[in-house]
Amino acid sequence: METTRPLLEVRHLSIGVRRGKETFAAVDDISFFIEEGEILGLVGESGCGKSLTCLSIPALLAPGIERLGGTVLFRGRDLAALSQKELSRLRGGEISFIFQEPAASLNPLHRVGRQIAEVLELHGLGDKKKRRAEVLDIMERLGLPEPENLYRAWPHELSGGMCQRVMIAIAAISRPTLLLADEPATALDTASQSRILELLQKINRDFGAAVLFVSHDLGLVSRICRRTLVMYAGKIVETGNTGDVFSRPAHPYTQSLMEAIPRRDRKGKPLAQIPGRVPPIEEPRRGCPFAPRCPAAESRCAAAFPEPLNLGGGHWVYCVNL
Ligand SMILES: Nc1ncnc2c1ncn2[C@@H]1O[C@H](COP(=O)(O)OP(=O)(O)O)[C@@H](O)[C@H]1O
Ligand SMILES: [Mg+2]
Repeated sequence: METTRPLLEVRHLSIGVRRGKETFAAVDDISFFIEEGEILGLVGESGCGKSLTCLSIPALLAPGIERLGGTVLFRGRDLAALSQKELSRLRGGEISFIFQEPAASLNPLHRVGRQIAEVLELHGLGDKKKRRAEVLDIMERLGLPEPENLYRAWPHELSGGMCQRVMIAIAAISRPTLLLADEPATALDTASQSRILELLQKINRDFGAAVLFVSHDLGLVSRICRRTLVMYAGKIVETGNTGDVFSRPAHPYTQSLMEAIPRRDRKGKPLAQIPGRVPPIEEPRRGCPFAPRCPAAESRCAAAFPEPLNLGGGHWVYCVNL
């Protein structure tokens, strides 16, 4: 019997950042998968390695940052084995991405419509007229207001939220099967955040794209993600269906994140802060990286990173203290 493969499989991925003569593991032996057509959340505080994980998938790591080990399989194909030409065809084609800073991603010298049309041009699709029609069509489908006017607008005329919606149109026009969305809603007000989440859901539902939704905000993740990965200091510490991770957070780090979510019933009260900070990558790490901040830590937590514990239903946690 043939089993269906996940769309993306990341196995034992480690990513090193060079600092002077030394290389430090900013992502340390993580494994996960994304099913075709699902929205997967990747959550963790700033500095935990979420962006590097994202960037390493289409091999977009900056100079001085490299994959130390592991494989990334897309439709079963090892992405490290692809030629530069095959990789660039994949990027902005089957795999597209959205970053946190929408305004910085748009070229200030080109009108909005042209920038969306460029994706089609890059992939050699259609003539000018056809591309224009397709851009207007994607704007329409994504519910962007006044497509004709937006087509002619300059980036500086748009709000941050609208810039990000344009970035999503750029990411969506190639009909990707995988959309990597790295904190796409982070810099925005709550109304714009909701619109971004709706757009991601639309691309997922209507176009069938799988989405990796990266956020440090568990609240946003819970709204659209079927499954969630919780990452701390280069490690995945918990994973499972979002409902399970939320209703029964098993890792002390996930529990701390949950307490830090702003909730209506807590309005006016200060947000719970997780005491301490994410350790910088230069700090030697042994055992569980959360141990120094963990209210439940024991001496054995510092000895070795725990084996995964199966809580059932695809819910896994890496903690010895359960
Ligand atoms: N371009 C870079 N140069 C040097 N260090 C980096 C770079 N990008 C990330 N890092 C380091 O790698 C770690 C993980 O970063 P990142 O993946 O950006 O975390 P996150 O996205 O979860 O906030 C951090 O300690 C960060 O300082
Ligand atoms: Mg980041």
